[in-house]
Amino acid sequence: MGQNAWWKGGIIYQIYPRSFQDSDGDGIGDLKGIIARLDYLAWLGIDAIWVSPIYPSPMADFGYDISDYCGVDPIFGTFKDFDRLVGETHKRGLKVILDFVPNHTSDQHPWFQDSRSSRNSTKRDWYIWRDPGPRGSPPNNWVSQFGGPAWTRDPPTGQFYLHSFLRQQPDLNWRNPAVRDAMFDAMRFWLNRGVDGFRVDVIWLLIKDDQFRDNPINPAFQRSQPSINRTLSIYNANRPEIHDLIKQMRVVIDGFSDRVLIGEIYLPLEQLVTYYGKDLSGANLPFNFALIHTAWNASAIAKLVADYEHALPPGGWPNWVLGNHDQPRIVSRVGAAQARIAAMLLLTLRGTPTMYYGDEIGLPRVDVAPEFVQDSWERNEPGLGVGRDPSRTPMQWDGTINAGFSAAKPWLPPEVDFKSRNVAQQQKDPRSILWLYHRLTTLRREYPALHSGGARVVSADNNVLIYEREVPGQRMTVVLNFGSDTQKLPQLAHARLVLSTESGRAQTSIGGQVQANEGLILLAEPAR
Ligand code: GLC
Ligand code: MG
Repeated sequence: MGQNAWWKGGIIYQIYPRSFQDSDGDGIGDLKGIIARLDYLAWLGIDAIWVSPIYPSPMADFGYDISDYCGVDPIFGTFKDFDRLVGETHKRGLKVILDFVPNHTSDQHPWFQDSRSSRNSTKRDWYIWRDPGPRGSPPNNWVSQFGGPAWTRDPPTGQFYLHSFLRQQPDLNWRNPAVRDAMFDAMRFWLNRGVDGFRVDVIWLLIKDDQFRDNPINPAFQRSQPSINRTLSIYNANRPEIHDLIKQMRVVIDGFSDRVLIGEIYLPLEQLVTYYGKDLSGANLPFNFALIHTAWNASAIAKLVADYEHALPPGGWPNWVLGNHDQPRIVSRVGAAQARIAAMLLLTLRGTPTMYYGDEIGLPRVDVAPEFVQDSWERNEPGLGVGRDPSRTPMQWDGTINAGFSAAKPWLPPEVDFKSRNVAQQQKDPRSILWLYHRLTTLRREYPALHSGGARVVSADNNVLIYEREVPGQRMTVVLNFGSDTQKLPQLAHARLVLSTESGRAQTSIGGQVQANEGLILLAEPAR
């Protein structure tokens, strides 16, 4: 994969397909809906869409419980729709990345149905079965991400099966070569159909301890936390054998030209970067979620940028993520004013940015009344604030019924005042956050310093972060005021203003200051 791989210069945009655009009036987004919005995405200026799972699924975890890896769920459409989506996306010069969910299947998958039927099933060893512990307890103390033990006893055979998530999501046994072959075939199936890569779900969890040792108890656990925090995930995650497996996945990907392997990994930076693999034989982009967990101020982010750059292996390409379908919305984390700073940060940092649908119009969290909760995690552990529905609400396209998302009642509600926040209204308003995103994607494409230049943190004083992006002959300075006070920047008084997050600025220089909550992109004056 060369220096100019598309996924290095490009911008990824995540679509949660249930919530993007409904075309058939069932209140749930679908493939034809996405196709209808491709022109919008091309205008927005992204380079690739990553579509959360569209495979046949009982939807216990909204598609992250797959019952057929080589199909399309009728809720989303047909193969014909899928092929059209790929064709229409490619026609616009954009790429299509699919979600791949290899850690677990649905309990309705024929493999699991077979596996649970008897201890002698040829698929028995495709999943992780263990005898009960003493007095019929679970085999060890591993906890499910969504609450309760990670083990469920299955009456037909009396053994327990492992599920790192819901009991409807039994974990596959990736130590079994037959599982690997079947799953690699499924990847090839889609690569042959023209997809440009995969975002691999919970890739750091795929291999578990071969001795099934108990996890250590987390001494800092508090009752107000979800039960996954009770123990430290030492033996059921991030095992040394994982890298060999990812390397094999990468070989599958590299059997096709110009594809990308992205891994979902929630680990501290120094662990995260090991997922590039030895000699970059692992994931092309191990998702970097650090911006989601770092304090929102100039010095914390300056440190993060420096630490990440320092931790990257030679040649490892960076990437940045502000939010996704599992995380609180950025605008609700940092507020409307700072959401504009977040946009500029994401699109001017060194490395591939991933945007989450709706963030470009400043979509906030949308609360869902308890009786309408959809997310199983929230249902399992109510009241702890773990629910993900508020970040998955319909895209707001215009001021018509249901925000233009669907003719029918949507599966999750749009904002009550969607009339004042939607794509149509913001496209008419050059001061909108949508226009800011559009301008940022345009600049990122225009200026080599921004899409491929080196990065250097200059300072983080007075809550103003300043960094430079540079290629030979072009140096850009990015100034981000995380604070709500105007700050003086005499040293940059003469730099040429390329873009401010505040559309009021008409001048070509900044007059030696950055306003409250303002972000600036400046071009260094050419030497005279
Ligand atoms: C990943 C997905 C999340 C899903 C879980 C189980 O973290 O992003 O939405 O619930 O894996 O597949
Ligand atoms: Mg639909």
